[in-house]
Amino acid sequence: MKHLLKLGDLTKEEIVEILDLADKLKYEKKNGIEHHLLKGKTLGMIFQKSSTRTRVSFEVGIFDLGGTALFLSPRDLQIGRGEVIQDTARVLSRFLDGIMIRTFEQKEVEDLAAFGNIPIINGLTDYCHPCQVLADLMTIREKKGKLEGLKMCFVGDGNNMANSLIVGGIKMGMEVSIACPKGYEPDADIMKWAYETGKFTCTSDIKEAASAADVLYTDVWASMGQEEEFQERAKIFKDYQINSELMQVANDGAMVLHCLPAHRGEEITAEIIEQHADEIFEEAENRLHAQKAVMVKLMA
Ligand code: CP
Ligand code: NVA
Repeated sequence: MKHLLKLGDLTKEEIVEILDLADKLKYEKKNGIEHHLLKGKTLGMIFQKSSTRTRVSFEVGIFDLGGTALFLSPRDLQIGRGEVIQDTARVLSRFLDGIMIRTFEQKEVEDLAAFGNIPIINGLTDYCHPCQVLADLMTIREKKGKLEGLKMCFVGDGNNMANSLIVGGIKMGMEVSIACPKGYEPDADIMKWAYETGKFTCTSDIKEAASAADVLYTDVWASMGQEEEFQERAKIFKDYQINSELMQVANDGAMVLHCLPAHRGEEITAEIIEQHADEIFEEAENRLHAQKAVMVKLMA
């Protein structure tokens, strides 16, 4: 494993290795055991979109590991004035030991990896969000004791989260169902792959998708970059909500996860967030531990 560009590039064994290391690093951090596995290393963090969790967890994560992070905003970088990614990649490779990038097009992340010669970590694109799903899988495994055989249902837009949950969930032996309005399905190639595994369904019927689910997952109706579509999307997605009625059709003890930020009263009710707060905020915390594991695997 040279980069983390998308979960489709990882084998099941590589995902398990990351989750096992993440569990170990979490346990050790809680017990005051320090590991400066990335002593002297520098991670560049390029953010073309906003972030709370990704930024703070990567920065704290590399600090925990004895390294340093540089926050690189496009306002300050020459990228913001049109310097091409090919040149940026070759220059930054000479200064840094790894780059985390959050941007719009997946191609930009792939180009950084192709033109640079240091590990590249995808911190979210319009196509996928692999770091989030590693933390999600870690959280489910922690709470349920396993992943294999569980059913995970994602409710809402067939966006970056849906794409990564399908790939990560199925690779780890889960069954994945998607409930989304017609026209808002996940990536066509990912769905084709998923259908071939026999572990995937996609329907506009939210109750059918959530039936007997062990994990219910949702995300915002309008992602970053889609703010102008919000009014239209709010009408289309109004029935795609995790609420107490939907919980009735899921399995007893079903978990609820949300990558956050959440919009209460839209994709999820305030009541369900509060009832499942220990799962949702553990999930947020696990971003730190999962990403530390990724950085160790790629940069140590
Ligand atoms: N879930 C997630 O990636 O959050 P941020 O946008 O705050 O980084
Ligand atoms: N789908 C959301 C995820 C945020 C973590 C977005 O791209 O804005």
